[in-house]
Amino acid sequence: MSQFYFGVDYYPEQWDESRWAHDAARMRAAGFNVVRLAEFAWGVLEPADGQFRFEWLDRAMAILHAAGLQVVLGTPAASMPSWMAAAYPDMAIVDADGRARTFGSRRDASPAHPRYRDYALRIARAMAQHYAAHPAVIGWQIDNEFGDRCYSDHARRRFQDWLRTKYHTLEALNAAWGTVFWSHTYHEWSHIPVPRSTTHACPNPGLHLDYYRFLSDLYVEFQQAHIDVLRMYIPPQHFITHNCMGFTYSLLNYFALARPLDLVSWDNYPIAFWREPAQMSPAAIALGHAAMWGLKRRNFWVMEQQSGPSGWHIISPSPQPGQLALWAYQAMAYGADGVVFFRWRTNPRAAEQNWHGLLDYDDVPRRRYFEVAHMGAQIAAVGAQIAGSIPVYPAAIIHDYDVRFSFQIQPDNRDFHYENHVLSYFAALHARGLAAVPMALHDDLSACRLVIAPALRLVDDDDAAALTRYAENGGVLVLTMRSGTRDRSNAMVTQTLPGRLAALCGVTIEETDSLPTGEFRALRWHDDSFGQGCASIWCDVLQPTDAEVWASYADCWYTQRAAITARTVGRGMVIYVGTAGDAALIATVLARASARAGLTAPLDLTGTQGVEVTERQHGTERLIFLLNHGGEPASVTLDRPMRDLLTDTALEGVIVL
Ligand code: GLA
Repeated sequence: MSQFYFGVDYYPEQWDESRWAHDAARMRAAGFNVVRLAEFAWGVLEPADGQFRFEWLDRAMAILHAAGLQVVLGTPAASMPSWMAAAYPDMAIVDADGRARTFGSRRDASPAHPRYRDYALRIARAMAQHYAAHPAVIGWQIDNEFGDRCYSDHARRRFQDWLRTKYHTLEALNAAWGTVFWSHTYHEWSHIPVPRSTTHACPNPGLHLDYYRFLSDLYVEFQQAHIDVLRMYIPPQHFITHNCMGFTYSLLNYFALARPLDLVSWDNYPIAFWREPAQMSPAAIALGHAAMWGLKRRNFWVMEQQSGPSGWHIISPSPQPGQLALWAYQAMAYGADGVVFFRWRTNPRAAEQNWHGLLDYDDVPRRRYFEVAHMGAQIAAVGAQIAGSIPVYPAAIIHDYDVRFSFQIQPDNRDFHYENHVLSYFAALHARGLAAVPMALHDDLSACRLVIAPALRLVDDDDAAALTRYAENGGVLVLTMRSGTRDRSNAMVTQTLPGRLAALCGVTIEETDSLPTGEFRALRWHDDSFGQGCASIWCDVLQPTDAEVWASYADCWYTQRAAITARTVGRGMVIYVGTAGDAALIATVLARASARAGLTAPLDLTGTQGVEVTERQHGTERLIFLLNHGGEPASVTLDRPMRDLLTDTALEGVIVL
């Protein structure tokens, strides 16, 4: 039977050694079986160039191990020591305005700097050699939350090499980017710039997209170098992971980053002070989990789960009673086999003095600690029955980082946000009790009967063929505005839009209308019973060539022209939605699409507010997760007898959550 990992992020280096044993005992009392350590400890592991100090960590790990805690060890490159920054001023990360960032936060070294890379790998090697055989260690986290874009001269040289490998000749590069425009033809590789701020806010979109791809590749390569070093020393049963930042983080291609990892993990902060209200909804949190499961289509861990009010200069609201466990169970509901709370005790000093752990500054256990400890007792009883079971995702959403990068460069409309657009489709399915997994276009989609491809702007021949095959084989495919309008070089296509997808959708786009903020277009639906909703942000004026019209525009200069169409393709169907659309529009489209695909929720919750339902399966055993996100008890009617895993009691009829 598998183990469910339940733990806490701990920083022994930040506390007096006399507290470690008490901390370890209290962690065990909370039901924790794992701690993550050391990912920010470079400065104390290597206080001077080449002088390693593992004694303190040895002592801390001995105490934690003796208490029965397993350890995930972090390699510490996310925060370089001060001596390194002083010795190499050109190691600093450089922003898009060309300003070198001052040492004093974290992620302040350029991933393109060769000496930084050497130093990072040297400390990783030293840790692997020292701890490979340690009995407490079960896995390794490489670095911490890779990300941030660097525009340094080191990065520029690496970019030029990357381009040489990609294009081979300058002719090919010039053609792909269309550099004849504004006299930008490149005659030397060394003349190619990085897209720092330019005189106009419109540098070349082809160069820009390649730069974002290159920077993502740079981190993937940096991580691979770490993996290669660790694997020389650590036993095969140790896993290697990296803590990603969920769906909302958009500067890295997480599919590529996840590929060589044994385990995906991520950091879940539902009420972070920087989030908009919509980004804190249960559906938005769920999308983070689903996206992380989708990276490898394998169970994941939450390596940092919010434990209290969070904040740097601004402090977020506190998680409400019950919410910490709710979030942790929600992670399980979408496929987590481990949840690690960030952090143990709140540090009164330094950059995260406002970022609360389970314990407050005074070390007195209060509500947050007791709630998590209560969950710890439940996990000790039933965790092994859940770990390793597979979450059920009946639908998929095509998630494409090149497309995200492309929309970062040109969103086309002031109010268009790719992430929000994806979330709006995910949330509409979520409201129907249908979990959708974000997947890459060339993953095997055949197990999903419904696939949404929101704003799939970059499409090549292979992409179009994959989507066509999917529909011909019986899938229901929903494509939305801007899909198929560009090629993978980020150039507009010259075929009639939607380009390579026009034949598949059975429509052409005759005109487009990018709407001003706050303007909507009314729709006339196929018939009165069809549904509701109006067009927003963007309107494609469609000419059906071989498709049925579901909705047309009304009360504007393209009145009666098609907005949403459907076409039967082989055994499947392709729906084209030529607008971003409000929530009612998306709900209407997905009600029909999911009915056509024959999808049903694990439990029908029609009429119940605020309750989320998902399913995991263990062979023929079905685990139904019911999560009440509301502030009040909620009644749910079961459609068959079930057993409550947490209390080991039989359930039937109406139950109260
Ligand atoms: C991230 C980091 C942690 C910590 C938390 C809170 O997720 O990985 O080190 O900084 O955020 O800010």
